Amino acid sequence: MRSFFVPTILVSGALAARPFLNEPDTGLEQVLGNTAEGSLPDLTDMVGLPDFDWAARNYLPLQNYTYYRNGAAGEWSYRNNMEVFNRYNFIPSVMNDVTEIEDSLSTTILGHNFTAPFYISPCGSGIYGHPNAELNFVKGAAAGGILYIVGNYPSLLSYRANIPRPSGYASLSIEEIHAAKAQGQVVFQQLYLTKNDTETQDLFDRSKEAGADALVFTVDAPIFGTRQRAARLDVSLASSSYRYITWDYYKKLQSMTDLPIIVKGIMSVKDAKLAVKHKVPAIVLSNHGGRQLDGAPSALEVALEIYKKAPEVFEETEVYADGGVRYGTDALKLLALGVKAIGLGRPFMYSNVFGQEGVERAIALMKKELAVDAANLGLSDLKEIDASYVQWTHNDWSG
Ligand SMILES: Cc1cc2nc3c(=O)[nH]c(=O)nc-3n(C[C@H](O)[C@H](O)[C@H](O)COP(=O)(O)O)c2cc1C
Ligand SMILES: *[C@@H]1O[C@H](CO)[C@@H](O)[C@H](O)[C@H]1NC(C)=O
Ligand SMILES: *[C@@H]1O[C@H](CO)[C@@H](O)[C@H](O)[C@H]1NC(C)=O
Ligand SMILES: *[C@@H]1O[C@H](CO)[C@@H](O)[C@H](O)[C@H]1NC(C)=O
Repeated sequence: MRSFFVPTILVSGALAARPFLNEPDTGLEQVLGNTAEGSLPDLTDMVGLPDFDWAARNYLPLQNYTYYRNGAAGEWSYRNNMEVFNRYNFIPSVMNDVTEIEDSLSTTILGHNFTAPFYISPCGSGIYGHPNAELNFVKGAAAGGILYIVGNYPSLLSYRANIPRPSGYASLSIEEIHAAKAQGQVVFQQLYLTKNDTETQDLFDRSKEAGADALVFTVDAPIFGTRQRAARLDVSLASSSYRYITWDYYKKLQSMTDLPIIVKGIMSVKDAKLAVKHKVPAIVLSNHGGRQLDGAPSALEVALEIYKKAPEVFEETEVYADGGVRYGTDALKLLALGVKAIGLGRPFMYSNVFGQEGVERAIALMKKELAVDAANLGLSDLKEIDASYVQWTHNDWSG
């Protein structure tokens, strides 16, 4: 393994008691540690989502891996996104019939049926992981029956499909990605927008024409974050201008399309309530995978604040969440607070190094974990989960 990415990073201050682990030691090094750099282990050797991070790091050129792995500044939010889940213990219940749990994973997202309450978060540049890029996510999501939200950088690419794109940035056009959908497959389209209404209208119309079932407006990235790990290698998609993102602008966007426009990147109770006020059909609690504002709270922390201070938000709009989810147990803690669906970004980007099959395996592993973890928590049906299954005060061993 490359020494640049020694997984253990000692941190100072209050967290010094426990080093941050990009991947906790679960014996992977002992079994796969001799895998030659630049080659992949067998897909069946991937037994959990963190394994895909290891495999991608070992296999991909440093720039490619760094584009995915990158977080903002000192990467405190990136790390916190993963560490936060272990600060809260479950309150398991025993003596319940859990034998039918696997039949209870299905859910709806904006009224569409899916086999599980998790989805592929929008991420740019699938081409860094596999030549088939985003096509693997479309097809993998179809095979697994889950939602895929297509990510895009239209402001960096020529926004018209027929103009050649600068190499190395986006992979495929909106049209090319949606054309790979299975019959009846539901896919949402994430967009970054400029203040140019002509371009915005064109993107909305193209997304609708291509068959997107909803749009996702990302509001936590008015300008790309301070990204040092990526800047070192010149893979930091630094945008040169500040994007215009306000509630008035959102209102205007709603008048430009009849597709629902989800708002992605809510990080406070105040903004969650404002989203409800502006009739947003769904919000995503997200700090962009810790890639934007270092120090921004994790989705779990925001969800907990909403649960305590404005629990009605979970009824008044659909609430999704992403960031740092690597285990079935992480997803359970978010579901417990009322989050309806959970996004995973990097795990799927990393799984893509194995192509569509890798994406399918990541989905299957996550489904299995969700079911097994829910059963061991004592749920007969995943929909029974609520906040009473988690101790919402910090445990004292997590540091
Ligand atoms: C490589 C990469 C590219 C991303 N690109 C986008 C994007 O184009 N649009 C967007 O809304 N979010 C983007 N995100 C954020 C993800 O949608 C999601 O919020 C984040 O990855 C969740 O954290 P996780 O990677 O720990 O699962 C990106 C994240 C990564 C890792
Ligand atoms: C979604 O699932 C429900 C309940 O199983 C079913 O009644 C409905 O027809 C499904 N909708 C679609 C579009 O498949
Ligand atoms: C790394 O990314 C480049 C795009 O910058 C891509 O052409 C190449 O195929 C990627 N490498 C791998 C192994 O996927
Ligand atoms: C908006 O975008 C269109 C299409 O790219 C372009 O022709 C037009 O000049 C732009 N308008 C402004 C004000 O930049």
